Amino acid sequence: MARSMDEIVSLCKRRGFIFQNSEIYGGQNGFWDYGPLGAELKRNVREAWYHDMVRSHDELSVPRGAPQAFQMVSVETSIIMHPQVWKCSGHYDLFADMMVDCHTCKGRWRVDHLRLKVAFGGQEHGETALLAWAYVPGTDSFGWSRNAAKLLRQEAARRTHDAGIPVSPGEPADAVWSEYVEALHASGESLSDRPVRCPNRDCRGELTEPREFNLMFETHTGAIRTDENKAFLRPETAQGIFVNFRNVCDSTRVKVPFGIAQVGKSFRNEITPRNFTFRSREFEQMEIEFFCHPDSSQDWYRYWRDRRMNWYVDLGLAGERLQLREHAPDELSHYSTGTADVEYAFPFLDAGEFGELEGVAHRGDFDLRSHMEGKLDENTDPLELELDADGKPKWRGSGKDLSYRDNQSGERFVPHVIEPSAGADRATLAFICEAWCVDEQPDDKGNLKPRTVMQFHPRLAPIKVAVFPLIKKEGMPEKAIEVYRELTSAGISAFYHQQGAIGRRYRGQDEIGTPWCVTIDGDTATDGTVTLRDRDSLEQLRIPAKHVVDEIQRRLKS
Ligand code: GAP
Repeated sequence: MARSMDEIVSLCKRRGFIFQNSEIYGGQNGFWDYGPLGAELKRNVREAWYHDMVRSHDELSVPRGAPQAFQMVSVETSIIMHPQVWKCSGHYDLFADMMVDCHTCKGRWRVDHLRLKVAFGGQEHGETALLAWAYVPGTDSFGWSRNAAKLLRQEAARRTHDAGIPVSPGEPADAVWSEYVEALHASGESLSDRPVRCPNRDCRGELTEPREFNLMFETHTGAIRTDENKAFLRPETAQGIFVNFRNVCDSTRVKVPFGIAQVGKSFRNEITPRNFTFRSREFEQMEIEFFCHPDSSQDWYRYWRDRRMNWYVDLGLAGERLQLREHAPDELSHYSTGTADVEYAFPFLDAGEFGELEGVAHRGDFDLRSHMEGKLDENTDPLELELDADGKPKWRGSGKDLSYRDNQSGERFVPHVIEPSAGADRATLAFICEAWCVDEQPDDKGNLKPRTVMQFHPRLAPIKVAVFPLIKKEGMPEKAIEVYRELTSAGISAFYHQQGAIGRRYRGQDEIGTPWCVTIDGDTATDGTVTLRDRDSLEQLRIPAKHVVDEIQRRLKS
C-alpha cells in the first residue's frame, strides 16, 4: 500500500510517538514533542548512532574500508557559546535565507521554496502552461525557475538559440537555464518585469523583494538586554567541537586521525518549518568532526561517506527510497573538495524527490583556520577590521594555535576535517515512514482484516518484547510477570499486558512495531514452554520459558 503521510502522522499521535508541541494551547509552529514511544525510538536511533560511530571505533582494529585504525571520542558542549564563535564560523554574517512576504495576506516564504509553488496560468503559453516564478540564485532578481515545467526548458532553449548560443539536443536543463540567464543579461533584458504573485491561491497578492533573514535565534545573557550581551542559540553542534579541538588534544591520548562526536539540540528560526518534524525550529543533530592529515583526507572522506550510507541501510532504509547523492562541483562550498548527501524519498515529497537525512562534507582546514586566524579573504574590507588600542587589526578568530604536531614525524599541520552531520529527528522520521506498512491478516475469527504494522529494525523498536498471559487465571499472569521481569532485568525493554483478546493484543503491538510477543498459556504450567510470535513472519514457536531471555538476546544480536 502506498505510504500516506496523513496516516503516518495520525498513527504517531494516536500511539504516542510524536505530538504537536503545546497542543492544548493551539500548538507552536516548528516545534514537536516526542511521546512515550517516540522518546524510546529516538533514544534507540541516537544510541545506535553512538554505538556504531563512536564506541565501535578504536585504535586496535582497522574498520572495513578505512585507511587505518582510529579513535573516536565525544564531547557535550553548551548551546550558548561566545558570539565570536558564530562570527568566525560564518553563521553571523552568512547563515541566512532569502525570504519574501505577501503584502496582502502577510504570508512569508523562503525564496528557494517558492520555485515551483508560485504557479499561475501563463496565458502566453496556453492553458496547460504553469510557469514558476522564482528567485534566480546569483542574479538578485526573480525569474522563471530552472525547475519549472518542460515547457520552460523548451522556451529557454528557444530563447537561447535565438540569442545565438548553440544548444545541443539533450543538454541538461540546468545548463540551458544558465545560458538563458546569461543571454538575457547580455541583452539587457530584465527577469523581473512581472510582479511575483503570492503562492496562496486564495490571495494572489504581490510579493515583496527578497530579503535576508538570519536563522539564528537570539537571546541575551545576564539581566540587561543590550547589544553587548547578545547571544545566540547554536544552529549546529559542530562549532562546540571545533572550539574544543585544542582541549581534547591536550587532555586525552588521541592522535590524528581521530574523530570527535557530539549529539545535541540545535536551533534554527526556519522561515517555513514544515513536513512534520523534517524541518523544525528545534531539532537534534548527531555530528562528527573527523580530523586527519591533508594527504589522506580524500580516503577518509570516502570512508565516512560510505560508512554513513551503510548505517541507514543496516537499520532498514535499503531500497529505492534511499540514495547517496554526490554534490556537483558547482554545489560545493569554496573550501570543500567533496560533499555527499544521504537522502530519503519521504512520502510528503513529490515522486522522484528526495529529502536530506545527512550531509558528509570534506571541509578542508576551513573551520580550524577560521577559529585560529579569522576569516580574511579577498572580500574582507580592511576598513571593517576592528582595531585594538594600538591601531592594529584585532584577531577575528581566537588567535590561538589550533595546528597539530605529529610526534613521530615531527610534522606540524592544520588537520583537514571530514564532517558527517546527521539529523536525529529526520532519521527517526525516515525510520517511521519506512517501517509503516499495511497488510492483510486473519483476525481472531479467521476473517481477513487490514493490519497496520511498523516494521522497525529490532534495534530501533521502542519495545522489544510484549509478554501476555493468554487468560487472567490459572497462574498465567504470575508466570507471565516472571518472564517479563527476567526480560527487563536483562536490560530488554518489555511490556506486560493481560487485557483483551490475544489477537487484538498482537495487533496492538504490531502497530507500534514490537518485534516479538511471548504468550503464556495452559501448556506453560505442564511443559514449561511459551509461544514466541514474530511480528513480520507471524511464525509462532514453542520455546522453554527459561530460554526466552537468551533467545531474544540472540535475535537482537543477529
Ligand atoms: N554542521 C553541518 C550542518 O549543520 P546541515 O546540513 O545544516 O549541516 C545537518 O545540517 C543535518 O541536520 C541535516 O542533514 C538534517 O538532518 C539536520 N537538520 C538541519 N536543519 C534541520 C531542521 N530545520 N529540522 C530538522 N533537522 C534539520
